Amino acid sequence: MNQIELIRALPKAELHVHIEGTFEPELMFAIAQRNQIQIPYQSVEEVKQAYNFHNLQSFLDIYYAGANVLVHEQDFYDLAWAYFEKCAEDRVVHTEMFFDPQTHTERGVEFATVLAGLKRACTDAKEKLGISSQLIMCFLRHLSEEKAFETLEQALPFKDDIIAIGLDSSEVGHPPSKFERVFTKAREAGFLIVAHAGEEGPPEYIWEALDLLKVNRIDHGVRSEEDERLMTRLIAEKMPLTVCPLSNLKLCVVKDMGEHNIRRLLQKGVHVTVNSDDPSYFGGYMNDNFIAIQEALALSHDELKQLAINSFEASFISDEEKQKWIEEIKAI
Ligand code: ADE
Ligand code: ZN
Repeated sequence: MNQIELIRALPKAELHVHIEGTFEPELMFAIAQRNQIQIPYQSVEEVKQAYNFHNLQSFLDIYYAGANVLVHEQDFYDLAWAYFEKCAEDRVVHTEMFFDPQTHTERGVEFATVLAGLKRACTDAKEKLGISSQLIMCFLRHLSEEKAFETLEQALPFKDDIIAIGLDSSEVGHPPSKFERVFTKAREAGFLIVAHAGEEGPPEYIWEALDLLKVNRIDHGVRSEEDERLMTRLIAEKMPLTVCPLSNLKLCVVKDMGEHNIRRLLQKGVHVTVNSDDPSYFGGYMNDNFIAIQEALALSHDELKQLAINSFEASFISDEEKQKWIEEIKAI
């Protein structure tokens, strides 16, 4: 079995994917038409041409504009279902998906509408595709602490449908410390915690995510390598980093995939995983990300297997489920 065949054969868990970032232009056009909402593009090709980013913010502006056509429960269902079909193609057998309720509630869409559509797709994915899933609700960090508190209040009646709370959007200038109090409340309510940190922001933001938000995983975290003491801590605590290689390339976090530090982080003993982030915008889903790093960094069979094992170990599934998938990986 060559490396590409191995990548396709491995069962994998995806731990860092924004469901709004899986919105393919074809589906965006179809939903815009059915909801009678104008989008500023004439064709699918024109949409794809707009996907040329020079940093995180240049992407976020387009990403939030695309999400504006999502209004009805069925829209959120269709969005998530299309992603699950990609999971099935890539042998992603478990996924923990982010959703950004504020992107929708700020436009007048009910929190319950968003959640109902996503949840129905999750139920169907288990039944029809055998894919398990969890939902992670993110606060938009460019908005206020007060807005985050309001969003947490809206989520509390749906506590059992949401496994964790995360933090995303424009990183620089919006450190984790801005949200310390609302994450304390979320933890007390029983949610697990994750946060984007060290994507564009400095290692200090990763320290804050660990010490103030008390995260269970760091999303991205690729800048941790700039701080030796932080690296020692991440390795000692086996703190997972959900790394997104194609995202890092498209948002110019790295200039060239050959410069990506995921293999070096793995070799140093950091618990890294591979993820797609916003696959419709960044040129690929799970296996595309694996193949991109494989081609640029020449990972061995054992390293590819370790990345797949890490994805289950870092997930929020039960220990029995973890063991089942890890044994299957080892047997390949
Ligand atoms: N929202 C969607 N994708 C994101 C990313 N890569 N970083 C921060 N916020 C995001
Ligand atoms: Zn992300």
